[in-house]
Formats: sequence, structure tokens, C-alpha cells
Amino acid sequence: MTASDASTARVIAATIRPDVQALARYAVADGTQAIKLDAMESPYSLPDDIQAAVARAVGKVALNRYPSADPRPVKDAVRTAFDIPAGADIMLGNGSDELISLAIQSTCVPGDVVMSPWPSFVMYEAFARLNHATFAGVPLTADLQIDVPAMVEAMARLRPKIVFLAVPNNPTGLMWSADAIRTVVEAAPGLVVIDEAYHAFARSTSMDLVLSHPNVVIVRTVSKIGLAGMRLGYLAGAPAWVDQLDKLRPPYNLNVLTQAAIVAVLEHKPVLDAHAAQICADRDALIASLAALPGVTSYPSAANFVLANFSSVAAQPGNAARIYDDLKARGILVRNVGPMHPLLAECLRISIGTPDDNAALLAALNDILPTIRN
Ligand SMILES: Cc1ncc(COP(=O)(O)O)c(C=O)c1O
Repeated sequence: MTASDASTARVIAATIRPDVQALARYAVADGTQAIKLDAMESPYSLPDDIQAAVARAVGKVALNRYPSADPRPVKDAVRTAFDIPAGADIMLGNGSDELISLAIQSTCVPGDVVMSPWPSFVMYEAFARLNHATFAGVPLTADLQIDVPAMVEAMARLRPKIVFLAVPNNPTGLMWSADAIRTVVEAAPGLVVIDEAYHAFARSTSMDLVLSHPNVVIVRTVSKIGLAGMRLGYLAGAPAWVDQLDKLRPPYNLNVLTQAAIVAVLEHKPVLDAHAAQICADRDALIASLAALPGVTSYPSAANFVLANFSSVAAQPGNAARIYDDLKARGILVRNVGPMHPLLAECLRISIGTPDDNAALLAALNDILPTIRN
């Protein structure tokens, strides 16, 4: 006997959470044939000798055993590679997404408030909602800066259990000043998670706040520095914070292959640093080239992507969507972030590619923009 589709649908309708039923699955564009400038990945794969070292390390792991639940070699390698201060502990996640979700789960009971400047990383809101917390986004200013007085007022009014600060911010690329960060941290009634997913492309870090302030942890990822396939994030915090946050971490969340591979890769950290430096140089060149296109505004970026506003290319709305479609038809994938928030209307987010990728993007825009104007 097989269940009919209708009877399966009935049980699902009565069982799966209504808000989950209403959700769309996380959409990822198929980029196999494209110049992929949509997901903030590094365009650079590892050199053959490092790839071979990873293969050797992975070739030795015992696949019949569960992974180490507290992998010292990984934590030691992360501590050294990313300058985690001696007084801080490290927690590892299956991507920093997992750490963000765990931080919300550990702090919020239903109805508690999760806060962030907004627009920012969409998963803060998604994980808040799925954990029955209330998400409060505090709008950025018209020039996409953090609105510190508005944050301080909103924190006093809504008493968030947890505040996320993406520094630099996604999807805008802008950096918050050290003063702005400190003011938010000192006014926050609960935990502040400073999300430095893009720290490799920024000139400063807030890592010192982890030890100087009682309510700060830092979350980072290796995804943006050329290791997105690895699924590894790390949280650095005072040992007392890590003791608490680590309680909800699923056992064995970091598989043996990732554990072996990351230790092997981080022995070659200077190669990752060189790629990041190349990306920063290419980012600054791309920002200047975009700004030189008639009607295009590009924002400063401390990340591995650039936000560009196409509202002045032509008077009618819909410029960014048309440019997005036309780029896609030419095999160039970027991200149309306009639908995310009114402040991002007519904006595309463009990840930095290789110099050839970036040149192809600029050539395509030079072709497309006159067609939008007419
Ligand atoms: C600000 C920010 N935090 C966290 C993440 C998640 O990274 P991961 O790949 O480690 O889950 C992203 C990914 O785009 C991001 O932009």
C-alpha cells in the first residue's frame, strides 16, 4: 500500500508548523555555467600543492568513528591563524549560520527580542522567527550607515536579549566605526554578537571587546576566504559565554573531513591572506569603475562584495531587476537585493571575482546600461 498524495498533504498540513509551511526554501541560483558573483565566495581555488595536502590529511581519517566532539587541533589551528586572544575560548560551528542560530536559541525564550541594524544579514531575522523570538530591525540611515541613536533608543525600549552587528555589514559592505560599535555594546541590555564574516577584507576588528566587555562575542566564518565548501564557523568569547553557548551545539556538528581539512589548509594561511589582499585591491578598482558609469552609485565596501545603486540610470523603476536579468542572460550572476528592503531599491550586490570576471561584468554593464536608458 502507498499513501496517496492527498493523505500525505493532510497530515503535513496538520503537523508542520504553519510558519514553516508558509516559508519558501532557501533559493540558491544554479551557477555552474556562470561567472558567479552572487554569493561572496572567493573566486580562487587552492593551489594544487595545498589541495594535495588536504587530500593526504583527509585520506587518513577514520570514517567509521564519530568526529571528536571537542577538536583541539582545529581550535588550536583557528586560534593561531586568526589571532584569537589567549583569554578567549573558541566554539566551532557547521558554518557561522549554525553559531548564529545557537546564540539565539541559547538566549531567547518565545517572545524575546533579537535586534540588528537593518537591512543586514537575512538569517538574523529568519533564525529569530524560527526560534519564536521577535525580530526588531533598526533601519539604517539613508546613506546606509548604522543609526546609533536609534539603536540606543530601540534597545532601551525593547530590551533585546541579543543584538547582532554585522561588521562590515551584509548586504551593504559598509563598516561601522569603533565608536558606534562601542556605544551599542555599552547600551545593550544583553549579548552582542559581532559578526565579522568579512573580517579578512576589513582593516579593523572588534576582537579586543571580547575581553574588555562582559557582553560581547565575535562570530566569524572561513566561507569568504576561499573555504565556503568547508562549512566552518567559529565563535570567540569569554570562557563563561562559550560554556553556556556550547551547551546547545549538536554533538559532532563538525564532521571528520572538515576537521582534517581545515588543519591542513590553515598551515598555508599566507596563501589565503594573499587571495584576500588581491580581492581587496580588485574591490577598490571595481568600486571606482562602477562609480564612473553614468547613473551608477557604488558604496564604500570593507567586504568582498560591492553594493551598486542603479536608480539614476533611468527614471522608471525596475532598473536593477532589468540589469540583473540581462547580466544573467549573459552568464553573469549577481544578487538583486532590491526586494529585501526599501533602502536597497535598485541595488545589486556584486561579489568580487577574478580580474577577468570583474572586467567581464564591467563590459556587460557598459553594453546593458544604454539599453536601460532608452
Ligand atoms: C554577515 C554574515 N554572517 C554569516 C554568514 C554565514 O556564513 P557561513 O557560510 O559561515 O554560514 C554570512 C553569509 O553570507 C554573512 O554574510
